[in-house]
Amino acid sequence: MKIAPSILSADFGILNEEIKAICDGGCDFVHVDVMDGHFVPNHTIGPVVVKSVAKVATKPLDIHLMVQNNTFFVDLFAPFKPEYISFHIEEEKHPHRLIQKIRDYGIKPAIVLNPHTPPEAIEYLLEDLDMVLLMSVNPGFGGQKFISSIIEKSRKLKAMINAKGLKTLIEVDGGVNDKNVKDLEYAGVDIVVAGNYVFSNPSYKEAISSLK
Ligand code: DX5
Ligand code: ZN
Repeated sequence: MKIAPSILSADFGILNEEIKAICDGGCDFVHVDVMDGHFVPNHTIGPVVVKSVAKVATKPLDIHLMVQNNTFFVDLFAPFKPEYISFHIEEEKHPHRLIQKIRDYGIKPAIVLNPHTPPEAIEYLLEDLDMVLLMSVNPGFGGQKFISSIIEKSRKLKAMINAKGLKTLIEVDGGVNDKNVKDLEYAGVDIVVAGNYVFSNPSYKEAISSLK
């Protein structure tokens, strides 16, 4: 299982140290939650902060956009060369076009599904994606309770991916901890995002390895 700690739960007063600690602690990606106060009822960080995150991170960035006007934000964050940029299908009229745009930047495109959105919504986009991110909480805040129906949804998505003979990865985001991570692995999930679970542990390294 690959682990992407969400820096939403980090102490932003000492953000550089927090990022160093998760990278030294063995994380695989640094998950960056970008919220605009419109698509979700919260507002987080923009390119000024992400620029310094990118400078200090020794692991690739996984940028999760929770915004209106995805194209504008893709242009804003692409210069930081993240591994992934993911955008919500619920907020995009032209997902196929946006996938190509992200790929043209040399970045791996991913689509996010809110808890209520069925995997069939992206069936005809799967072959163009490197990853699908399934939300296991309602996006907007860290520290929420895991929605367990996402386990069955992951299984369903994995079956769709296998049936098409694809290698698309599945990532799950929200409320992940050492109790539910095993079920996610059995359901075919490749990467988990964990904010509260990692950052509330006195040892980030221990939290990351317990999830692994
Ligand atoms: C929620 C964010 C998540 C969140 C995960 O909108 O996308 O990345 O910060 O945090 P936890 O693990 O605390 O649910
Ligand atoms: Zn996220």
